[in-house]
Amino acid sequence: MNNASIQPVADRFRYKTAHGLRGQAEKLGLALPFSDDIGVLLQAVAVNGRRIPNRIATQPMEGCDGELSGAPGPLTRRRYLRFARGGSGLIWFEATSVVADARANPRQLLLTRDTLPAFRDLVQETRAAARDRFGAAHAPYFVVQLTHSGRFSRTAAPGQRKVTCANPYLDREPNPLWTDADLERVRDGLVAAARLAAEAGFDAVDIKACHGYLIHELLGAHTRTNSRYGGVFENRSRLLLETVDAVRGAVPDLAVAVRMNATDGVPYPYGFGMAADGSASLDLEEPRRLVRALVEAGCTWLNVTAGIPTFVPHINRPFDRPVSGTAAAPEHPLVGVVRLLDLGREMQREAGTIPVVATGFSWLRQFWPHVAAAVVTRGMAGFVGLGRGMFAYPDAPADLMAHGRLDRTKCCLSCSRCTELMRFGSTPGCVVHDQEIYAGLHRDAVVAQSRGGS
Ligand SMILES: Cc1cc2nc3c(=O)[nH]c(=O)nc-3n(C[C@H](O)[C@H](O)[C@H](O)COP(=O)(O)O)c2cc1C
Repeated sequence: MNNASIQPVADRFRYKTAHGLRGQAEKLGLALPFSDDIGVLLQAVAVNGRRIPNRIATQPMEGCDGELSGAPGPLTRRRYLRFARGGSGLIWFEATSVVADARANPRQLLLTRDTLPAFRDLVQETRAAARDRFGAAHAPYFVVQLTHSGRFSRTAAPGQRKVTCANPYLDREPNPLWTDADLERVRDGLVAAARLAAEAGFDAVDIKACHGYLIHELLGAHTRTNSRYGGVFENRSRLLLETVDAVRGAVPDLAVAVRMNATDGVPYPYGFGMAADGSASLDLEEPRRLVRALVEAGCTWLNVTAGIPTFVPHINRPFDRPVSGTAAAPEHPLVGVVRLLDLGREMQREAGTIPVVATGFSWLRQFWPHVAAAVVTRGMAGFVGLGRGMFAYPDAPADLMAHGRLDRTKCCLSCSRCTELMRFGSTPGCVVHDQEIYAGLHRDAVVAQSRGGS
């Protein structure tokens, strides 16, 4: 899984029938769950005393379309209204920074006392959009992902982008290190933002622990020495667990979730959930232990993902076409899909009755509901989440309710153009199926990039 070992594998989705897709899985020796009956996805379910109208989640996806203040902008509003009108039972709002100098891009959302009114409006309007289309009985559940971008902070002052420890796979240059006191201030910032999230009307906060951002970075900080937050597992997981505990203490009525990496794809000692021999193999002992600790700490939701998107994108989001200028995936995308589903299953096994939201469905196009239904029926996860698939086809849950199947012409093609928009410093969305906004933005971004843009 190391980039150095990447050999391009040109393979793409070309299955007209479920039989073809399942045959491919068999050929690859993969156990792809599949169910003809998708009914389970559309059943309401109770979590922590709340009725969630169905098992389908919109995964968190940054739109990089906030105002410079960090308040949601017009395109942010447009995205969430589309998700709500599309019928998702669970909407996991995107990575939202808790401090101004830790934003992954200058248009990342930022939750502060100043931006709170705009977040409150966004929550209310999103709730109203769902109610207007599906009636009062359909009240989707809203989680907001709180984050500090750590080594990926693009708004840090020059020389102030800090890391928990050096990482030869991810660092382009040496960076200053966080002190333990700095990290404790980040924890306090997350707790303060959780209070604001409750005021804004969210049902839960996610303390983001994935994809290389700060809290997740600590989970793999094996080489951080002389610190309460580095070295042994108890130390590496301490800041996350302290934050969960502090949020529960400060805002008891707010549910706490964690989106976690079950493995990083960055070899030990620079990644989490990796074999200690420094190979590309996974070792899930610590991720399992983390799940048990999070459940013990009172989390009521988990969301399982993997990989560092810029380093091993094929692990994070299996694709047919890579971001332009980057390597093709070293494996068949279905291998990545099944890896993500298996990781979800392993974490769900540990989490018991606390629901895991599984990731990895978008590449499956029109067949995802059948795989997702089998995932839920077999107890591999409580909920199924789509990222790129919802940019492309936010009405997918509504179409399943109305027709029992998807329109294959509206499905995500895993063409990576949404990610490309983000990498080129623009505003991600579906370039293929939401052309009104994103086709032009993509054209402009490609031109700007070819002229040496951001
Ligand atoms: C443009 C873009 C933005 C994303 N932003 C976030 C984010 O804010 N938080 C997060 O945890 N994951 C983020 N992701 C990852 C997705 O939530 C999801 O895990 C990934 O796309 C794989 O799921 P999929 O195959 O359904 O797309 C993002 C993905 C994309 C393509």
